[in-house]
Amino acid sequence: MEQEHKGMDQAKSLWLTESKRHSFPTVTEDLTADVIIVGGGISGIATAFEMTERGFDVLIVDADRLLQGTTGHTTAKVTSQHDVYYHELIQHIGMPKARLYVEANEKAKELIQTRVKEHKINCQLEIKNAYLYTKEESGVKKLKKELDAYTQLGIDREWKTELPFDADIQAALVMTEQAQFHPLHYINALIELLIERGVRIFEQTTAVDVKESERPAVVTKSGHHLTGRYIISCSHFPFYDGKGLYFTRIHPEQSYVVAAKTTKPLPDGMYLGIDQPVRSLRTAEFHGEEVVLIGGEGHKTGQGGDESAHYEALEKFGDNTLGIEEVLYRWSTHDMVTMDQIPYIGHLTKNHPNIFVATGFRKWGMTTSHVAATLIGDLIEGKSNPYESIFTPSRLVSYPFVKDFMKENTNVAAKLISGKLKQTDQTIDDLKPGEGGIVSYEQKKCGAFKSEDGNVFLVDTTCTHLGCEVAWNNSDRTWDCPCHGSRFSITGEVVEGPAKKPLKRSYKEQ
Ligand code: FES
Repeated sequence: MEQEHKGMDQAKSLWLTESKRHSFPTVTEDLTADVIIVGGGISGIATAFEMTERGFDVLIVDADRLLQGTTGHTTAKVTSQHDVYYHELIQHIGMPKARLYVEANEKAKELIQTRVKEHKINCQLEIKNAYLYTKEESGVKKLKKELDAYTQLGIDREWKTELPFDADIQAALVMTEQAQFHPLHYINALIELLIERGVRIFEQTTAVDVKESERPAVVTKSGHHLTGRYIISCSHFPFYDGKGLYFTRIHPEQSYVVAAKTTKPLPDGMYLGIDQPVRSLRTAEFHGEEVVLIGGEGHKTGQGGDESAHYEALEKFGDNTLGIEEVLYRWSTHDMVTMDQIPYIGHLTKNHPNIFVATGFRKWGMTTSHVAATLIGDLIEGKSNPYESIFTPSRLVSYPFVKDFMKENTNVAAKLISGKLKQTDQTIDDLKPGEGGIVSYEQKKCGAFKSEDGNVFLVDTTCTHLGCEVAWNNSDRTWDCPCHGSRFSITGEVVEGPAKKPLKRSYKEQ
């Protein structure tokens, strides 16, 4: 069936288009607060909320607009079912800690439900079962091991051999009583409460450094100092490294989502197909009607090739499964992944008693952002928290994870070198309006984007973080770095760190 793309808004998420947005000023003077939070996504806002509950005076800064990053582009499943995960987790961190990991996420899910109830937040929160399913024999083996892990961990579960829709599966493992919601309706409600509580919020304010002392200060790009008793880095990638070597311990991944009206409804539940390529399905409400979010096609940032092929693959899957009537939105999201796939939440390093970090949520940041909020709150108040040793960024990581991560980093190093060596015959004339790519210009290789009205923007493709080659992302119209996930606009400005400086624009523009 030919799918309609009527009114489709390229690369904009359904959440962002549907939700009202607050605007906040930039920082124009030195300021002080008890707690300075850098990053206004779900982890920054949830942590700010937690700190105000505990009586702290909080100030939030974001380099862009609030909620523009991963939070505005998530599939927003509020669940402890983090893909096929627990069998391996038990092998690597042991049963007692794996139990605590599940407990931390279940408590986080309950915390979201409590906040929604207490503050009467209208965010389409719905309790749903979460399904992992497979169509392959090898997948059944994996799911059986995962079922065994669920049993040992005491997770409420069901085993199925068919799904309530036409998917021709071999097996499915269900985690019962999970949830989904509209992430921006939820977070906007928290933002309004934060404003009522006197929290100062600033946008378009890039944090570039920390001046360490008993009262540390975030230094902004404009040179202002935001001094606090505590600093919490909730940015996508930690904005300040503090010799924690985070760039050697996290890698970025990109995946895609399509929001579509379907001819058949998606039966009650949230679904994740574990066979390659992975597929995710959930419903969402759009202007009072039910639509389906179809996700998947993950790859390392900057290494995905033609983005439109990823969207087309998701649409084809959606059409074969439920029948697509109209595609409404397409967007991609960028997630940070740690060495052992457990987020880094806690003191930035052992030597930073008053600087904290929360990052590396993979695709499961709805619950783990709330784990971060309570865990960091407890650390600041000097209270013991049972989950500290699981999430601490200073933890030792077991060998299989290190080996896997080394493979990732070898791939990163290969990208660094191959990008530098690769020549191109493509010229600016070969680019269609609205298209970007690496071109040869005046005998040099550079990045070019040709706008719809024919203007050409040229950048040096050397990432200003540690020198990898950035790649064009046609879906978001950004230059993305495959090494540590920095992203730059068509004019080279930093969209997302760890890079702090823009791409060079040493070429004369057309
Ligand atoms: Fe580290 Fe580009 S983000 S080199």
